Amino acid sequence: MEPILIVEHLSVSFLRYGRGLARTELSAVRDLSLTVEPGQVTAVVGASGSGKSLLAHAIFHLLPRNARMAGTVLYNGQPLTEGRARALRGRELALIPQGVTYLDPMMRVGAQLCQGRQSEAARCREALGRYGLGAKTEDLYPFELSGGMARRVLIASAVAGNPKLIVADEPTPGLDVRAARRVLGHFRELAVQGAGVLFITHDLELALSIAGKVVVVWNGRTVDECLAGSFQTPEGPSHPYTRALWRAMPQNGFEPPSCGIEELIM
Ligand SMILES: Nc1ncnc2c1ncn2[C@@H]1O[C@H](COP(=O)(O)OP(=O)(O)O)[C@@H](O)[C@H]1O
Ligand SMILES: [Mg+2]
Repeated sequence: MEPILIVEHLSVSFLRYGRGLARTELSAVRDLSLTVEPGQVTAVVGASGSGKSLLAHAIFHLLPRNARMAGTVLYNGQPLTEGRARALRGRELALIPQGVTYLDPMMRVGAQLCQGRQSEAARCREALGRYGLGAKTEDLYPFELSGGMARRVLIASAVAGNPKLIVADEPTPGLDVRAARRVLGHFRELAVQGAGVLFITHDLELALSIAGKVVVVWNGRTVDECLAGSFQTPEGPSHPYTRALWRAMPQNGFEPPSCGIEELIM
């Protein structure tokens, strides 16, 4: 099946200005490639600092001003330009950012969810209800929400528009187990209905509970892409780094790698 999202050789670097004319470039994402197929959940798994959030922001052209991005991002086979990303976000494209600070502090939840369109009110109410938030939530300002509620509001607002591609950046921390399960279940449901889901997490176990395909990133690079099913075979995933991540999972006895990470990546 044709991928709905293709990211090829993505890199992101930051310009740092020092004294005088001194300028240094700090490279944060070096070579990230992945595809997301419609009807599937693809997980991006990587340690903290490996460039996962930058990947999400780069796809949507939401990088900070001093960031420079290179590489290819195709949505439905066409370059996802800044204009196209802006036009489609909130409709076909949904981003669930990692930080809840992305909520507008000056706007009530209800208005934020319908983006001012009264015609959307019923759909927004339904989206809130799906995540266990009553209609009363609509009248609240973000500061009146608990962390877990704010997170569910972000998720509800992202998926209210029946998106075709959902990029969810670590969406479940701060949620209790029931709420997290509901969120993951809903992502899977959106995939079953035909959407492509890119699920970003540092938690391999969580990734395997929902994804069909796992993309492993390290230090701004894609090091492996494998099917979730390969973790269920007796020999486990074939890439040494992925296998080390897998062996370190609780049910596999937290076995630490026998050598340095660099050696596993080579
Ligand atoms: N605005 C920024 N300026 C400079 N470096 C940044 C900026 N944002 C992120 N980075 C660096 O890029 C790397 C990847 O960040 P990030 O994508 O947030 O990682 P992850 O989401 O995988 O934890 C980190 O080492 C971080 O320090
Ligand atoms: Mg992150």
